[in-house]
Amino acid sequence: MKYGYFDDEKKEYVITRPDTPAPWVNYLGSPEYGAIVSNNAGGYSFAKSGANGRILRYVFNQFDEPGRYIYIRDNESRDFWSASWQPVGKDLSEYKSECHHGTAYTKMMADYSGIHSEVRYYVPLGKSYEVWSLAITNDTDKVRSVNVTGYAEFTNNSNYEQDQVNLQYSQFITKSVFHDNRVRQMIHANLDQIENGKEVDNKIVVNRFFGLAGAEVQSWCGDKEEFLGRYHGYGNPQGVINGKLNNQGNYNENGCGALTTALSIAPGETKEIAFLVGMKDDAEAGEIVASYTDTASVCKEELEELISYWHKQLSHFQVKTPSPEFDTMINTWNAYNCFMTFIWSRAASFTYCGLRNGYGYRDTVQDIQGVIHLAPEMAVEKIRFMLSAQVDNGGGLPLVKFTHNPGHEDTPDDASYVQETGHPAYRADDALWLFPTVYKYVSETGNVDFIDEVIPFANKDEGTVYEHLKRAIDFSMNHLGKHGMPAGLYADWNDCLRLGKDGESTFVALQFYYAMTILKEFAAYKKDESYIGYLDECQKNLGNLIQDLCWNEDRFIRGFTENGEVIGKRDDPEANMWLNPQSWAVISGLADEKQGDLALQQVYDRLNTEYGAILMDPPYHAHAFDGALAVIYNAGTKENAGIFSQSQGWIILAEALRGHGERAFEYFMENAPAAQNDRAEIRRLEPYCYGQFTEGKASPNFGRSHVHWLTGTASTVMVGCVEGILGMRPDFYGLHIAPSVPKAWDEFEIDKDFRGCHLHITVKNPNHAESGCKKLLVNGQEMEGNYIPEEILTAETVVELYLS
Ligand code: NOJ
Repeated sequence: MKYGYFDDEKKEYVITRPDTPAPWVNYLGSPEYGAIVSNNAGGYSFAKSGANGRILRYVFNQFDEPGRYIYIRDNESRDFWSASWQPVGKDLSEYKSECHHGTAYTKMMADYSGIHSEVRYYVPLGKSYEVWSLAITNDTDKVRSVNVTGYAEFTNNSNYEQDQVNLQYSQFITKSVFHDNRVRQMIHANLDQIENGKEVDNKIVVNRFFGLAGAEVQSWCGDKEEFLGRYHGYGNPQGVINGKLNNQGNYNENGCGALTTALSIAPGETKEIAFLVGMKDDAEAGEIVASYTDTASVCKEELEELISYWHKQLSHFQVKTPSPEFDTMINTWNAYNCFMTFIWSRAASFTYCGLRNGYGYRDTVQDIQGVIHLAPEMAVEKIRFMLSAQVDNGGGLPLVKFTHNPGHEDTPDDASYVQETGHPAYRADDALWLFPTVYKYVSETGNVDFIDEVIPFANKDEGTVYEHLKRAIDFSMNHLGKHGMPAGLYADWNDCLRLGKDGESTFVALQFYYAMTILKEFAAYKKDESYIGYLDECQKNLGNLIQDLCWNEDRFIRGFTENGEVIGKRDDPEANMWLNPQSWAVISGLADEKQGDLALQQVYDRLNTEYGAILMDPPYHAHAFDGALAVIYNAGTKENAGIFSQSQGWIILAEALRGHGERAFEYFMENAPAAQNDRAEIRRLEPYCYGQFTEGKASPNFGRSHVHWLTGTASTVMVGCVEGILGMRPDFYGLHIAPSVPKAWDEFEIDKDFRGCHLHITVKNPNHAESGCKKLLVNGQEMEGNYIPEEILTAETVVELYLS
């Protein structure tokens, strides 16, 4: 079943049926002011932290309420509806609507009772408040008198938990007042006489506002219960039914902002107003609302600026292939999803409140990879930040606090860090993700000098980027298990695999092997011969160990427990086949071709499904070892044999690296949200963004997906597609082009900005190959192999590649 379509021109997803199988959302704003809005206007806002800066309330597990509601009431008939289908939920035979989720804005159009409304939700570029701009048109031939009421439900405390579960406290620190054109909600306002700047019990006065521009406020309410009315809900608020709000604020209990304006709209006339929400002191709130006096033109300009900003970001890499699903994901939605995970990490969504008050090390370092080809300058800022969160022993801080203070942080070795973050120990993989990330950045930009840049360590000291990478190698060398392979520590990439300090992880061993290959390239650039010698020897030993200990006839095992028990061997009753060691054996370059192909074939035969490859098989149930935490999940779910979408990116990449274009693309299509648009009722999640996982074949809900938007999938699939399927593989000195595509693709085009030049690449495939380069022409000149050295690039470089 379909609920909407992709408008690729405008880079929007248009929802034509509002009764979607789940709230389908969009992200607005920046870390300064974040907002999530669903197609039915559900969602919340926060400043800096989803957990500690919560401004608008959203109740999890409550379907999709509350939200940024705009009610429209016909004052003659007294009938009322909402600018989004819900919360009033008029009969869909009479109420027609569309929701357009775009790049950092959402528009909702509705037609009901001869009134057309269009609301646009956005956070203006560089600003830290939100706008709900509304255009309302009378499509009938008589004058219409309507009330428009905006409703914003404020939290009683910026801390999400306090607001939700500690009502004996949070309901008694809030009050609201009205003046001019806005409701002012205050928290701890009784502290206003305390000396300016002085903190009392860590609490200072917090001000929020809900204002109206473009029309006069006719009545207002600052008290949730008064607005809704006892035994009424968001679908039939008493304040809207009455046609007039009670003009009273709250003193204790639950605050809100509700503003009604009465509009008389002539036939064919459109009126424009805007509701504004933010967390600002009163004077600033007044200035903000005043700046929208010329409502229609200010909002129009702001939206245009926002759209052109995002479209420019996405323009740096665009493709035109025979697959509309691939194009819409790479050109817009996967790319935008990468920016969102890059910006928000796992901060806040409809499935997570943002309690983790910081960045997960591995997540963030991986997320960076997804935007390097689009915004390398943005990426390098984050790389610096993450390097500054590396401990001087080379390990990563499992959680990097939003307040991270390089050079002065405690580490997992300190009780204080453990207590504050809840992370009791190092994870085996964290710092190893730096290798591909730093390499991709340097190769995309050619900025080799970056490796000499000095960056502090998290706790003390500083070192060049090169030194940071060397310390990451030291960390793994200093944390080896019983056989001499990297220890699994508190977890490797898989949160649910606790292998401990004596157990060993094949995945980490493969990452480590790969890290050494990358570092050798940096060392060669530095002419650091003795270090190359050291890495050569370490890598050879590690390679031999992996081959001797981990290759099990046709697959790589997953690792060893602390007692030396093998995980993931062929004859285990459960979890005898794992996805990641197979893909990573290829990505890392450890597997020889025969092994690689055998292992990938096992994945296809044993793990692949119509929605992607499951993480392992069979699921844990009766034979889980102590560190196999995945057994807590239902079979076919999450790490317990779910289709963990992040791993899908790696299998795409691995198949592509082996030149298997058909397979790589098949894996892409199986899990691509856009490819499931016409069976959206099965996937349930938004058809334009990735989810953390899809329920696997062991689940009765096979195909249902979960944990939208903020997932490492965005970056791994992006890398799998850009480096793998499209074969864009820069190195320090130029660009390799090695596509692995479906045989049926006759031709495709790539437009890529690269080191200050624009590349227009056409790949021709007259012989219907799936990989291999027959001929490469750059500005008409034939190249050797499939490599373009940087020095021959021109401002407008025309590239033609013929597949063999
Ligand atoms: C989600 C976590 O955010 C991520 O760090 C982890 O790698 C995956 N789960 C797999 O367990």
